[in-house]
Amino acid sequence: MHLLGDYIKEHFADEEKLQQKHNYPLYDWHKRQHKIYIQAYEKLHKEYMKNGPSQDFTLHLTQNIIDWIVKHIQHADVDLGKFVNCMEESHNYELCSQGLDSIQIVYTGA
Ligand SMILES: [Fe+2]
Repeated sequence: MHLLGDYIKEHFADEEKLQQKHNYPLYDWHKRQHKIYIQAYEKLHKEYMKNGPSQDFTLHLTQNIIDWIVKHIQHADVDLGKFVNCMEESHNYELCSQGLDSIQIVYTGA
């Protein structure tokens, strides 16, 4: 659980650096999503340290924390990947900023 938290934080920080480097148009929103997730993760981690792997913990972990990160990767991170690839190929900020629709995805649970 602890290693997962370290990995997530490091991965989010790397992603945010990449977004800053390319002046990613959804940077503020994407960073806020990471922050919300880390807060939810830390709350769950505290619960785990206090009560161990209870049934509630397992349910929250699978239904919220894992589901959220899967949706985040499928939408927000895919958009980021498309944007970065487009920028590296075309260097056309206007073109690459089009069609980034992950901001419309409503994330729940985390
Ligand atoms: Fe992300």
